[in-house]
Amino acid sequence: MAASPEVLSSAPAMTRCECAEMRFEEIPEKLAREHLTLEDLGKRTGCGQTCTACLPDLKAFLASRRQNSRKAPPFGLEFSPEFRRR
Ligand code: FES
Repeated sequence: MAASPEVLSSAPAMTRCECAEMRFEEIPEKLAREHLTLEDLGKRTGCGQTCTACLPDLKAFLASRRQNSRKAPPFGLEFSPEFRRR
């Protein structure tokens, strides 16, 4: 039996990339410390690029962090066209 749309829309957001075993909370610091874009991190670790299940929640998490920050964090949210299609 398939889950109803109400059940699916109320599913909790992911807070970590299971494939890369990386919590979203640690990603902004890692990007800043290693001068990486999210795409670079994905290429190095598979974060957001293995099964891609976490990618929508990861993008939303980083966007909310950026919105909540007075100064834009030193990590890019620019994605290549290939990365955006996922
Ligand atoms: S859970 Fe993040 S790529 Fe699979």
